[in-house]
Amino acid sequence: MRELISTDDLHEGICQMASQITSCYGEQPLTVIGVLTGCVVALADLIRQLHMPLRICFVEASSYRGATERGPLQLQAESLLDVVGRDVLLVDDIFDTGHTLVEVMQLVETLKPNSVRSAVLLRKLGRQEVELQPDFVGFDIPDEFVVGYGLDYQDLYRNLPFVAALDPDDLQADPRQESRSEI
Ligand code: IMP
Ligand code: MG
Repeated sequence: MRELISTDDLHEGICQMASQITSCYGEQPLTVIGVLTGCVVALADLIRQLHMPLRICFVEASSYRGATERGPLQLQAESLLDVVGRDVLLVDDIFDTGHTLVEVMQLVETLKPNSVRSAVLLRKLGRQEVELQPDFVGFDIPDEFVVGYGLDYQDLYRNLPFVAALDPDDLQADPRQESRSEI
């Protein structure tokens, strides 16, 4: 495991993203929707740098997967707040292929908000398979599998206070049966 983004740099990146978000919305009320589970650390730090009236709720994204392949995405949105006519900011940990954010965005748009924008802590370069780009990005990173600061490998490492890249030796096939996993 190699440290890629230090705790101090993460703090600085979050503060920069918060200041761009503040420039965009000013004092307007904002509804933040976090994409569980990976968003939790970045979201907790980001919201404490935002000072407009702010509501928070979550959507849970999960997929059935075997050892290596990611299966179809499932979204659980029962705990979403009413967002009709509201300005919504989606917050996710990482923008990889982009499919998760596109699907969450499509779901939220059916709820008739005034606007939907997105903020991601990390964007993996050269991986995107969708037209959409996030409105706010903390860090662009190379195409490596990363963990920490909310991001997991087989549900571990989310509590690391920095972002690290896993080396090929760290990435072993999941010995368990196919399982459902929050992303
Ligand atoms: P996407 O739909 O391909 O953009 O992937 C989004 C989700 O996949 C993220 O919210 C993460 O949970 C997971 N993911 C993608 N790349 C990584 C990584 O490098 N480390 C940990 N999780 C990742
Ligand atoms: Mg994950």
